[in-house]
Amino acid sequence: MLEIRDLHVTYGAVAAVRGISLTVGDGSIVALMGANGAGKSSTLKSVTGQVRPARGEILWDGRSLAGTSAVRIARQGVACVPEGRGIFSDLTVLDNLRLGAYRLRGSRSLASKLDAVYDFFPILRDRRDQTAGTLSGGEQQMMVIGRALMAEPRLLLLDEPSLGLAPKIVDQVYGIVGDICRQLDLAALVIEQDASIALSICSSGYVLRNGVVAVHGTRDDLMNDAAIRDSYLGA
Ligand SMILES: Nc1ncnc2c1ncn2[C@@H]1O[C@H](COP(=O)(O)OP(=O)(O)OP(=O)(O)O)[C@@H](O)[C@H]1O
Ligand SMILES: [Mg+2]
Repeated sequence: MLEIRDLHVTYGAVAAVRGISLTVGDGSIVALMGANGAGKSSTLKSVTGQVRPARGEILWDGRSLAGTSAVRIARQGVACVPEGRGIFSDLTVLDNLRLGAYRLRGSRSLASKLDAVYDFFPILRDRRDQTAGTLSGGEQQMMVIGRALMAEPRLLLLDEPSLGLAPKIVDQVYGIVGDICRQLDLAALVIEQDASIALSICSSGYVLRNGVVAVHGTRDDLMNDAAIRDSYLGA
């Protein structure tokens, strides 16, 4: 479904991504891990069209995304939950969710999509008229995942959804993301620094180090890899 081939991203003199290749198959959940500055967000932003690759190819359903605008990529079914969440603090929860609905037509499809999001995150139904900036961190994270779902994506890109959340809330959010992907048959690429969190729902993963793929494999391969355990699983 998504295939990245030999991706390079540079910012001036900084080579942030230096030849990354990865694939996300239909309906699969894939982890993208690595330390600060490894190139995770740069990889994701290349997929969403926010960053133009210096070299390499990104294929969506076999077709190159080169030169495709971020808006078009989003309309083709790629939804992103960005690093730092990107909420509209002064708007209500409902209005934040509606902003995600740019692919929907008609008020009936909007209402049914909202209901589907509220069923995954019942707290958002209770808080729909609350200003988003006053939500707890966990509620904000749920809201931006909900906002991404409003676009009826086929692929969900999540950039460090656990950031700043208590472990219990992280487990809850990840549990729901797993349910969402299974029930809606969505694929996901999940960025996390902590491999044990990412691998709780991912079937395979890639570990980036200084802009290259250091290791990749199935969940079991990665869990059993001594170097990964020592570096990324806190063993
Ligand atoms: N807009 C930019 N201009 C210049 N350098 C950048 C820019 N964005 C990222 N970089 C640099 O590129 C490298 C990779 O950054 P990136 O944000 O992709 O890392 P990351 O793996 O997402 O890290 P983190 O876990 O801290 O979010 C870093 O050295 C960073 O300083
Ligand atoms: Mg990042």
